[in-house]
Order: sequence, then structure tokens, then C-alpha cells
Amino acid sequence: MTPKLISTSPENIDADALAIVLFEADAKGKRPGGRYNDLTGGLISDLYASKEFTGKLLSTALIHRPAGMKTRRLLLVGGGKASELTPAALRQAAGTAVRALKDKGCRSLGLAVDGPSVSGDQVQALTEGAILGNYEPDAYKTSTEKSGAFQEVLVLGRKSTQKNVGRGKAIAEAQNFSRSLVNEPGNLLTPQKLAAAAVEMGKKAGLQVEVLDRKQLEKLKMGALLGVAIGSAEPPVMIIVRYQPKKTRNSKMHLGLVGKAVTFDTGGISIKPADNMEKMKYDMAGGGAMLGAMMALAALEPAVPVTAVIPSVENMPGSRAQRPGDVVTTMAGQTVEVLNTDAEGRLILSDALTYAKQLGCTHLVDAATLTGAIVVALGHVHVGAFANQDAWRNRLLASANAAGEKMWPMPLDEEYKEQLKSIIADLPNIGTRWGGAITAAMFLKQFADPAPWVHLDIAGTAWLEESKPYMAKGPTGVGVRTFVDLAMKLKPGSR
Ligand code: BES
Ligand code: ZN
Ligand code: ZN
Repeated sequence: MTPKLISTSPENIDADALAIVLFEADAKGKRPGGRYNDLTGGLISDLYASKEFTGKLLSTALIHRPAGMKTRRLLLVGGGKASELTPAALRQAAGTAVRALKDKGCRSLGLAVDGPSVSGDQVQALTEGAILGNYEPDAYKTSTEKSGAFQEVLVLGRKSTQKNVGRGKAIAEAQNFSRSLVNEPGNLLTPQKLAAAAVEMGKKAGLQVEVLDRKQLEKLKMGALLGVAIGSAEPPVMIIVRYQPKKTRNSKMHLGLVGKAVTFDTGGISIKPADNMEKMKYDMAGGGAMLGAMMALAALEPAVPVTAVIPSVENMPGSRAQRPGDVVTTMAGQTVEVLNTDAEGRLILSDALTYAKQLGCTHLVDAATLTGAIVVALGHVHVGAFANQDAWRNRLLASANAAGEKMWPMPLDEEYKEQLKSIIADLPNIGTRWGGAITAAMFLKQFADPAPWVHLDIAGTAWLEESKPYMAKGPTGVGVRTFVDLAMKLKPGSR
């Protein structure tokens, strides 16, 4: 979908549909949409009066061939209370407009907001919402069943907001790239295929991509990662994507983005039940988010170096597979007793975190579909955010807020470490039943320290079980927008 900025009056927009975001009537009962009401000869006022349309967030009403306007259809989309308007609400409203119309044979869409002219941030949010709403996870459907898609979206705004359209496009397309990777089935997206996709993305975006193979991983002594990989015929890889700012030298800040990429998680010998196992193709969503973030950052050019480190394996119960009770030695030298082969994410991430520090990353963020326990704790609404430093987590949470991605701080007190005791080795890879998301994070902390680090458990938020008015069900691409916002706000001169 190509987004374009358009600065004419709404009545002149010649599109299959024009969507306008309208708000709830204010306390004085004054109905919004005055300008559009005049244009349409009182139509909008009628809809408010009959309560057919109230402006409630994400509600819609469709009008065909509105008088006084060039557009073929006029879609009213609720923006909620005007006084509570956020970019997040506009992003969702734009996505809702696209999804309400894309199967109705529409190919071009205009997007406008009632009231005084929209800000740059709002133009960016509208652009993002439209592109995200246009995505459909139906890559392998044959043509007859495929759903429609918009080719063009015209965002109504001032000329000065042109660059915000570009920004929104870069970010949303990167998020959709991440979603399409996560949607790929395990047979078609193996660790090596993921690496190939990263290389291809890097070529197009202008990023340096390096892929370490099994031999190189053995040389680096990544015993925890290799132990997980050994049960599969598919060889493991470590994908490293580098962004180096053109203007900055000797940056004090170097962001490391570490993402879990288990292309399929059967659980290994501690095998998972058959029910819902097919969903474990999304166990590479952390790595997918980091690749998406890097794609956007290549276009947006932050001032600090950013390196993505993505360990990728398939977790299978083959005849060579690691057994419960096996002991492996991590790259950092710590030994781990693998009590449960299904707790594989923390094993591959431990080596990746160590390696990211070795590559010079000063600040770390990891994203992983790490535990079922985070879904019990936070459901499908918030990402769980664990950290070893409050200041660094607060910066990440501020970015999450700005990007409209819900994340919630989780505890990581030393007491939780008491669960991580092994008789035979330095650490077991699991704790007790209780606080499973926290003990998983506590395990990772041993390898991230002393670098400022945030761990995001995205097991509950990387996959949408039911579609939203503004987003298809399936992969969400969660994290991409937050990581981009964070990287763009970092400064080379300060930590
Ligand atoms: N990939 C899973 C976590 C997961 C569960 C992601 C549900 C998405 C939805 C992870 O590798 C795993 O299996 N974790 C185990 C850990 C346990 C053995 C301590 C879990 O959460 O059950
Ligand atoms: Zn697992
Ligand atoms: Zn897993």
C-alpha cells in the first residue's frame, strides 16, 4: 500500500472511499463534524441525532455516494473523546477504516480527521494504522479466497507533515515484514531460511548481515545454543545485523537487540501436548521483531550504532536430542543443567546475550516468546518487561507508550534466584511452578549483567487469537515500533 500526503479539501478527494475520524459529542452536546456536515447537507448531524453514529472509538457508519463530495463512499470512524485523543487511537481508527472497506472492492482510500489540522505525529499514526490494517496473514491462500487490499491511502494533512508519512510507512512496513516472517510455517522458515530472509532484507535496506553457522558457533563455545539445536536436522544459526550511523564515530551508546528465534518449538524430549502445538511456529517472534526494527532503522538512521543478535534453532526431539538432566556449558562459561528441554529459549538467549556484549553492545533489549507463565500473568494485553536497571527500563517503557505498544513492568528481586539451584551445575534451566516468567527472566539476567538490560516476554502478545477491528488475527509484530522509537531517541554522547 502506497501512502501519500494530500493537502486539498476533503470534498475534492477522488477515491473509492474517504474515511473521516469523528469524535463523541462534548459535554455541551455540540455535535462534531461541522465542516463535513455542511458539505453533506446535514447527513452527519442526522446520524448523530439517531445515535446511528456516536463517535465511540472504532465504531463506524458507511454512507454511499455522499452528496457534495467526489468520493464514492464516506466512512465515519469513531475517534472517541476528542479531549482524550492519542496517536494510538488514530492508528487504530485508520486500521479500522481500512479493514471495514478492504473487502468491499475499494482500492484507494482517503483519511481525514475532524477538527483543526492534524499534527505530524498524528499523520504518522494514521499512515501506520492504514498499512498495518491492510496486512492479511494469508500468504499461502490461492487467489480465489484471497481478501482484498488497498493499493493507495491518501492522508489529509499539511505539506509540512510529508516526512511523517515517510516515517509511518517505514515503520509499518517493517512491522508487517516482521509479521510475515512470524506467520511462516516451520517447514518453510527454518533457521537457515530465516538467515536468508535477513540477508535479503539487509541487502535491500543497506545493512550488513552476518550469519554464523554451526562450526563458528562451536568455535565460540556456545554450548547452550548448540545443545538445543542438536535434536534437529536443521542446523542452527546466529544472525547478526549491524547498523552503523554515518555521522557518528566512537559512540558511547551501542544498542543491542537480541531476539529469540526458535523456528519451531516442539518442546524437544520434554515434548509439548499436540493441542495448539502448531502455534509454536511463532516462537521466533522475538527475532522477527528485531529484524523488522533493523529494517525500519536502516531507513530512519538513528544517531547510535544498533546491532541485532538473533539466535535461531529448531527445538526437536531427534535421536541426538538433548535429554532432561544433560549439562551444557554456556559461552560465558557457566554450566547449566537442562531439567526441561522445553525451556530452550533462555538457553539460546544466554549465549546470544553474552555474544552481544562481546560485540560491544552497551545497552541490551531482548524480546522472546519465552513463557506460558507470562500469558497467565498478563493475558494477551501487555508485554512483560523485566530489567536489571530501572532507568533503562523506564526509557524503554516511555518508548512503548509513545509507540502505542502496551508493556508492563515485572519484578526481578534477588529472592527469585533462590529457585535457580542445581546440585550438579551452576544453574538449572527452570525454577519451580511459581513465578515462571520471573525465574526465566532471572536466568537471563545472569548473562545480561552488568549491562543495562530489559527483557520483554512477548509470548502473550506476539499472536492475536481473534482479529481486532484494526488488525487481522495472527502475528502482531509487537515490539518493532517500540524498538524503533527507543533507538531514535538515543544519543551517542551520553549513556
Ligand atoms: N515457547 C515456549 C513459551 C510459549 C508458551 C510461547 C506459550 C508462546 C505460548 C517456551 O519455550 C516454553 O516452552 N516454555 C515453557 C517453560 C517451562 C518448561 C519452564 C513454558 O512456558 O511452559
Ligand atoms: Zn519451549
Ligand atoms: Zn520456546
